[in-house]
Amino acid sequence: MDRLEFLRTKIEKKELPTYVYGYPSKRAYRAFPQPLRITDVVEQANRSKQINIYIHIPFCRYRCTYCTLFLTTRNRAATQEAYVGRLVEHIARYGEYLGDREVVSIYFGGGTPTLLTQHQFGALFAVLDVAFPKRNRRCEITVEAAPDCFDNSLLDCLKTLGVNRMSMGIQSMVPGELAHSGRPYSIEIANAAIEALIERFSHVNLDLIYGLRGQTRNSWIFSLGRALDYEPQTISLYPVVVRPMTNVATSKRLNPELFFSEAEKYEVYDQNVALMASKGYRQESFIRFTRITGDHAYRQEVSDFEGTPLLGLGAGARSYLGQYHYSTDYAVDWKVASRIINAFSDRPFDPKAIASHGIKLMPDDLARRYVLLGLTLSVLSRKNYAAIFGRTLTDDFGEELKALESLQLINLADGDVCQLTQEGFKYSSILARMFYSNTMVTLEEQCQVA
Ligand SMILES: C[S@@+](CC[C@H](N)C(=O)[O-])C[C@H]1O[C@@H](n2cnc3c(N)ncnc32)[C@H](O)[C@@H]1O
Ligand code: SF4
Repeated sequence: MDRLEFLRTKIEKKELPTYVYGYPSKRAYRAFPQPLRITDVVEQANRSKQINIYIHIPFCRYRCTYCTLFLTTRNRAATQEAYVGRLVEHIARYGEYLGDREVVSIYFGGGTPTLLTQHQFGALFAVLDVAFPKRNRRCEITVEAAPDCFDNSLLDCLKTLGVNRMSMGIQSMVPGELAHSGRPYSIEIANAAIEALIERFSHVNLDLIYGLRGQTRNSWIFSLGRALDYEPQTISLYPVVVRPMTNVATSKRLNPELFFSEAEKYEVYDQNVALMASKGYRQESFIRFTRITGDHAYRQEVSDFEGTPLLGLGAGARSYLGQYHYSTDYAVDWKVASRIINAFSDRPFDPKAIASHGIKLMPDDLARRYVLLGLTLSVLSRKNYAAIFGRTLTDDFGEELKALESLQLINLADGDVCQLTQEGFKYSSILARMFYSNTMVTLEEQCQVA
């Protein structure tokens, strides 16, 4: 199918594929023939004097009915302590090889990182300060939170440690929708949690999900309105992704009438875009809207796109170091996830075997990744592409750009940056998939993990 046909067919059918955050996804990762050595990745990272750090905290109090992230809800106290101990060792050891880089961003993602104790956060920041002492003046330090998984003294502690951005899942402000999502707290708790964050941090992101069981157009607008009342700096609006093997998938099979269709999700999306603009928010991607003018509100994402290596630490964290993308193995099933997490905690850092699972990207894949991420963030510059890849964007992706332009999904009037039009943002999950190589499509399709 040619490019234009590909886009046209999917848009006409109102397909809404899962939002693309990276290329390729973990589903394309496989066991390496030999484990990666630290020297392999340091060689790749040498092309940049900067670094981004992602620290994965795979613990939650409960599993939400829609969520397939890599985490465990079992054995928390002892498991967490062992896990943090191993993370401290990893940070110190990676610092020996990469600690001379300037740190652009540090992101504690999950799971629910605010389940860590103050003492555990203290230990992680202490080792980060020693192992990675050079910080960019505007280093972005983010921690993810859930409304019922912190108290105010933890927030004060995080602020003292230098955290300057908090990101919290709200999902819905309607009690029944929260209950169906498996989130066992009241709306009062959610409100108090938002207030506590807004009071302390200048940058707060709130996540909401549309398409939850029982949600209506009105109840969605009600939830979004309550979140907007707090005027957070960023709001991320996710259409629900119903993955096989989740409770929400079973629920949808039994009661499809309680869920939005893909076409309805697109209608809600249009309504969101109009509402967010009327409230003074700028659209940065399919899901993210920000009040901040100037720079993008999520520095780690943009810095990764610009080519700064991302060092992922912990079980399930992804690392993007030049041609090497890797992580530990991962799983959704709690028994397998717990086994992988415990294996991480049990195994000392080994510079000769830092990862056994991932992919080595070829130059063609790196170019595809650059274009795909640049387009979905609406920051793809022709000049930068030519400087990095030594060829013009038109040489490599002329047919794709032409198709995007003819459907008015991008605007090339700027002469350098390929900007997404309003329709371009709307269909960015579709247009991203046009840049997948056949090999990546096959690898991802063959993946057995839910
Ligand atoms: C790591 S969590 C955020 C922090 C915290 N664990 C919480 O849920 O409050 C990542 C976010 O991804 C979104 N998410 C996860 N699974 C999703 C799904 N199946 N469909 C849509 N959004 C999803 C949720 O909005 C969630 O807040
Ligand atoms: S949405 Fe957040 S709290 Fe719920 S299971 Fe996923 S990571 Fe945990």
